[in-house]
Amino acid sequence: MDKTAVVHGRSSVAQTDPLFPGYPFDQHLVAGITPIVSGGPLDFRIDRPHGMKGFILNMTVRGTGDVFDGDRSVRCERGDLLLFAPEARHDYGRADGHGEWFHRWVYFRPRGFWSPWLQWPGASRHIGRLHLHGEALRAEFEDLFTRVDQTHRGGRPTSQELAINQLEHLLIRCVEEAPAQATRAIDARVQAACQFIARHLARDLSLEEIAREACLSPSRLAQLFRDQMGVTIVRWREDQRLILAKHLLRSSSTAICTVSSLVGYDDQLYFSRVFRKRVGVSPSEFRRGA
Ligand code: FCB
Repeated sequence: MDKTAVVHGRSSVAQTDPLFPGYPFDQHLVAGITPIVSGGPLDFRIDRPHGMKGFILNMTVRGTGDVFDGDRSVRCERGDLLLFAPEARHDYGRADGHGEWFHRWVYFRPRGFWSPWLQWPGASRHIGRLHLHGEALRAEFEDLFTRVDQTHRGGRPTSQELAINQLEHLLIRCVEEAPAQATRAIDARVQAACQFIARHLARDLSLEEIAREACLSPSRLAQLFRDQMGVTIVRWREDQRLILAKHLLRSSSTAICTVSSLVGYDDQLYFSRVFRKRVGVSPSEFRRGA
């Protein structure tokens, strides 16, 4: 298809690089890294007076940025995460007097049940902010951003779905690392249930046991949990198990059968089946970096 269009008598080519103005952002997810170096081709301010249609999650990985929300400026350094709500005005770039600003970002249209993960405490009303303390945590998040990006460019028919799945992981980790007020929207009894499940991931807790811990009847807990978290308890526990399994597979040499039982699957074959279905590859392929 010829992408050249004639606009006002001038020939213009559709922008295919999301780092430059004019890119349409017409997908559910677009991810990348913007390496701004003083005097370089990307050393301009990204100015969107009406924001964007979707959210942007932004992490400074190097250097210093300056983000203006229409009222005030916020400095960003390594480990700062920002979440721009749709239509949130933003105007940002390398901070004056600093040689570079590298940031990783994910632009996305959220799924409905993500809303509890998108209520961050603010740098301003429409821009949430989270600071990651410690290099291990920063490296983990940088890796999560990179994975969303790489998965998305993976060239598989399912790449977009898998990248959305990785983004869910990233957003959940953000919620886990956010100060307590970020999770204020979640009912304390649902939080108690989550903590109880997370502490006993290796056990097959019954709904009754979890409900007792949360001081609710099983049916009330099941309903409240679904309303607030957007997923069932069983699904949430499965997510947590897979998150832990992925972490153990990549960060340790623990045998796969041990990983399987540590995260609550006594039957390794069943674990591998669930893992492949949800992650797209087998546990051993995942460990090898597939
Ligand atoms: C790119 C910017 C990046 C982010 C995405 C959505 O052009 O470099 O910061 O805003 O757009």
